[in-house]
Amino acid sequence: MSADLPRDVRVHADVDEQCSAAARFVVGELASALTRAPRASFALAGGSTPKRLFERLVAEHARALDWSRVHWFFGDERCVPFDSPDSNFRAAREALFAPLAIPRSSIHPMPAEAADHDAAARAHERELRDFFGADATFDVAMLGMGEDGHVASLFPGEPALAERERWVVHVETRAKPPPHRLTLTLPVFARSRAVFFLIGGASKRDALRRVLAPRDDVDRALPAARVTARERVVWFVDRAAHG
Ligand code: 6PG
Repeated sequence: MSADLPRDVRVHADVDEQCSAAARFVVGELASALTRAPRASFALAGGSTPKRLFERLVAEHARALDWSRVHWFFGDERCVPFDSPDSNFRAAREALFAPLAIPRSSIHPMPAEAADHDAAARAHERELRDFFGADATFDVAMLGMGEDGHVASLFPGEPALAERERWVVHVETRAKPPPHRLTLTLPVFARSRAVFFLIGGASKRDALRRVLAPRDDVDRALPAARVTARERVVWFVDRAAHG
């Protein structure tokens, strides 16, 4: 948890209220970014939680801004075919990109289907550098959190969590299937203007308590506890996860 940013934890009664609030936050951040520049950048979380947020953005904010000016990235991706049920890209394409008619040129999927995962990570880093220049600064980065406190594909105690130089790395893990993944690294999230978490359900309660109220260095070392940003880190959590 960043020591120098004020803690901003927003507890909502249920998933519907939580995702509506998060959707309003996303639209506000992107609209603000689009007053500063011709395009904005948004790194999406993977897993199952984001789907409800994507549905809210489509249902409640389809005309809130010129979505074609937003460029879409991913915090991590499973190394599976893009049409796999495990693909984070497929989930976003079905729930968000297609309904909002996002042009393909604005979507930057991680090269999940490449056979050489390390080469794929390096190729995606080149794509990020081409887009951002010297400093990857997402306007908004979204994260979920696993029951072990992982974020993106940065799992407790695994080498990728300690990566300080590369922006994108290949991860092989037994912590959460599928085993092969590509992930942004902590320094990239730290350079984002705004990072927000979307965390819901009783299964996340223990990890969330450990991250928000760490009792020891193990808790403080959890990936979710180490996420920082340039301007703000906001936690959208439901009552079931927060208690
Ligand atoms: C992934 C995700 C991962 C996810 C958490 C929470 O690709 O697996 O990026 O970090 O955000 O595991 O997953 P759920 O939203 O499914 O609980």
